[in-house]
Amino acid sequence: MKTQVAIIGGGPSGLLLSQLLSTVGIDSVVLERKTKDYVLGRIRAGVLEQGLVGMLEEAGCADRLHAEGHVHDGALLSYGDETFRVDFKGLVDASVVVYGQTEVTRDLYDARERAGGEIVFEVENVQIHGADEDAPFVTYDKDGEAHRIDCDFIAGCDGFHGVSRQAIPLSVRREYEKIYPFGWLGVLSETPPVHDELIYANSERGFALCSMRNDHLSRYYIQCSLSETPADWTDAAFWEELKRRIPTDMAAKLVTGPSIEKSIAPLRSLVTEPMRWGRLFLCGDAAHIVPPTGAKGLNTAASDVHYLFQGLKSYYRDKDPAGIDGYSANALRRVWKVERFSWWFSSLLHRYPDQSPFDLKMQIAELDFLRSNEAAQLAMAQNYVGLPY
Ligand code: FAD
Ligand code: DHB
Repeated sequence: MKTQVAIIGGGPSGLLLSQLLSTVGIDSVVLERKTKDYVLGRIRAGVLEQGLVGMLEEAGCADRLHAEGHVHDGALLSYGDETFRVDFKGLVDASVVVYGQTEVTRDLYDARERAGGEIVFEVENVQIHGADEDAPFVTYDKDGEAHRIDCDFIAGCDGFHGVSRQAIPLSVRREYEKIYPFGWLGVLSETPPVHDELIYANSERGFALCSMRNDHLSRYYIQCSLSETPADWTDAAFWEELKRRIPTDMAAKLVTGPSIEKSIAPLRSLVTEPMRWGRLFLCGDAAHIVPPTGAKGLNTAASDVHYLFQGLKSYYRDKDPAGIDGYSANALRRVWKVERFSWWFSSLLHRYPDQSPFDLKMQIAELDFLRSNEAAQLAMAQNYVGLPY
């Protein structure tokens, strides 16, 4: 088989890239290790920046998002019973849209299918060849048979556990990593959200987040220990703990119900440099991970896709390689700023096992400062709604 861009990974970054490329006549094939149902069953991000919304519009798959997504103009932060709102709309005249990653992925799959795009599911043993030469190719197995795709470029969109990052030799690749000493226990429940905006809560018992997918579907998270498993938490214990971490007035009106999904995610910051090696480009979680506080993972995957799509478009349309040559530096400049924000927001809201009484006072002083200082809120709002591409 031959294509222009071989895309490894059928998560949001691979699908969005493939769909955008097809709008300008660039051919691609997507290779996905799992089944479509498996990919759609993963409950992940829920908050979309305007930049991602704009790309979904450009890709021709934003109709359902506009019909069903909820625009949020601000968010609440709390510490103990102190609560304040950061007004994104008032501060930076921008908003975010609450619409699940699952739905984004479903819309992208539908669009690829409508356009006759090629997605090969359940591939095994994907290998990258000749990325640093002129004629790269990808090999994989499917149903026990070996296959080969010759291509001009390879986009490594295969997430944290993929093969693409590893294909860059260690003599070239450098990874910067920070592991946080806690995780997030997340619960999805068919209950109305406790509030019409998100609540990020710092409490003596640890962080909590009240989020949602729609008016009847809530997503809640609590900071937990890395040694715990979802089975350690009954629904009743989860709700009890959540109530103890959010402001009393919110706890009083929280509607609880059976969980329909419960999982634990570890928190990690990771950046791989460079994001390009020859004809291989890394996009999204294949190149970097952020802790989830602030909802930047999916959005940063999308900003990589933006830079790569623009670079490939100029390359094929105008024979101009400047965009693909600048891809790694341009993407990384934004990635590091997002890493900073996610690290800062995580540090502000979680309890760390080695936190001293002084460290705790600093956290509260920073929250007090953010509460009362418009310049600090402005900086937060600019980052939360999404830095410019
Ligand atoms: P992925 O979504 O990981 O997609 C990569 C795809 O590649 C997968 O479908 C995988 O099956 C496939 N793949 C892997 N290896 C291979 C291979 N060898 N060959 C072929 N295919 C392969 N972000 C937020 O903003 N907010 C959140 O609340 C949030 N929660 C999260 C919870 C969890 C448990 C996780 C893991 C992530 C969460 N994220 C969150 C991060 C966000 O979901 C990711 O940043 C986003 O999915 C990145 O998209 P991606 O397409 O780059 O990678
Ligand atoms: C969600 C996750 C986040 O990490 C976040 O900051 C906001 C919302 C969510 O899953 O809804």
